[in-house]
Amino acid sequence: MLSVAILAAGKGTRMESSLPKVLHKISGKSLLQRVIDSCVELNPDQIFVITGHKSIEVQESITENKKIQFVIQDPQSGTGHAIQILCKAVKKNEGKLLVLNGDVPLIKPETLNKLLNLHDSKNADVSLITTKKKNPYGYGRVFLKRDLIERIVEEKDCNDLERENPLINAGVYCFNWGNLSKIINTLQSNNNQKEIYLTDTISLLKNSLSLEIEDNGELQGINNRIQLSECEESIQNSIKEKHMLNGVTFINKASCSISEEAEIGKDVIIEANTHIRGNTKINSHCIIGPNTFIENSNVGLHCEISNSTVYDSQIIDHIKIGPYSNIRPKSKISSFSKIGNFVEIKNSQLEEESKVNHLSYIGDSIIGRSTNIGAGTITANFDGQKKHQTKIGKNSSIGANTVFVAPINLGESVTTGAGSVITKDSKDNSLAISRTKQVNIENWERKKS
Ligand code: UD1
Ligand code: MG
Repeated sequence: MLSVAILAAGKGTRMESSLPKVLHKISGKSLLQRVIDSCVELNPDQIFVITGHKSIEVQESITENKKIQFVIQDPQSGTGHAIQILCKAVKKNEGKLLVLNGDVPLIKPETLNKLLNLHDSKNADVSLITTKKKNPYGYGRVFLKRDLIERIVEEKDCNDLERENPLINAGVYCFNWGNLSKIINTLQSNNNQKEIYLTDTISLLKNSLSLEIEDNGELQGINNRIQLSECEESIQNSIKEKHMLNGVTFINKASCSISEEAEIGKDVIIEANTHIRGNTKINSHCIIGPNTFIENSNVGLHCEISNSTVYDSQIIDHIKIGPYSNIRPKSKISSFSKIGNFVEIKNSQLEEESKVNHLSYIGDSIIGRSTNIGAGTITANFDGQKKHQTKIGKNSSIGANTVFVAPINLGESVTTGAGSVITKDSKDNSLAISRTKQVNIENWERKKS
């Protein structure tokens, strides 16, 4: 039987944040969710998440999972105190208890499995992951006696000599739960932080094993924003390396960020300062960026998007977007279309080969195939209470500065006069024009001041 306990009750004082530490995100996912996702891969029988500081906020942040039970630790008197509360709250303290710090987010399921295997094969009381760090500052130092761990000394309790020990505790432990529960209530808080340390269980248990692994960034604990940013960089590097090996070019890798879920096709070029977030798919032969943000969208083959933002939308094939376009949610731009400078599109469908090249707002609209929307065209979709639809048929030619007062429905091959305010529907092949006729007054003399 395998149970997992994730320690997530602390405030995270060193983050200097109103957000609980475990809810800070790296590459779009919270530290806690990452730890949960990693341990779910082991298929444990039950998962306990120990919350305390802003516990409701922390509990609500988690993706639902039937195996998860919450245990409240209030006040938060240390990692050992958290496990004391867990042992009391759970009737049967038996089998293996894998304890994971909620602030060690990059831990891999393979590494956790290695720990479980070592633990089983040696029938240990506790096994924990250690690594040698060049700069071990802030971590508990692990002291071995022959093959076993003798004790762990926290940074704040170390003397100068102990502080030089590079072998650190990663905050990932597997306990024989029965044996742990026998000694858990004997822990004391007579240390410099006046906290009950889980690490003090090591010297109270007999058979304490260390699984030392190479310091590859996976064991980075996050206690402050510098470490948060180091973890972000490490995860981003591995995401981008994966894409580069699959045929994606990054012009300026360091200035870009890519979500873990993103899919990018071959021969895509990602220009500088481009950010691909959420569940986005970029198909082959696209040039994305510079200065572009795309979230939860699908971009087809051979598209070029520069200096623009795209949210929750579908961009089909051979489309040019930008510079300075803003494609807002629920938009669909069909093949061979062009969205140009300073154009905002929202909840609209543009059929093939349509063009909105300059300075326009197209909202709640359906634009037919091969229709050209002149510069400065606005769909006035909001009457102060409700949003209304604009429909323009195929092969239409919309004059510059046309305002469509929605709801409005124009047929196919319609032309509108530049500067018109269109308030009435019009049929196929018509010209819709609404503006005062120009008057020329000749020999007009300006008043002298
Ligand atoms: C802890 C370890 C240290 C190890 C390091 C690895 C202890 C005493 N020290 O130190 O040996 O090298 O992790 O990253 O365990 N938490 C609770 N309840 C509490 C206090 C903390 O649930 O009362 C949670 C926190 O939310 C956090 C985790 O436990 O997710 C670790 O706490 P933190 O304060 O970050 O411990 P470290 O100082 O990093
Ligand atoms: Mg920590």
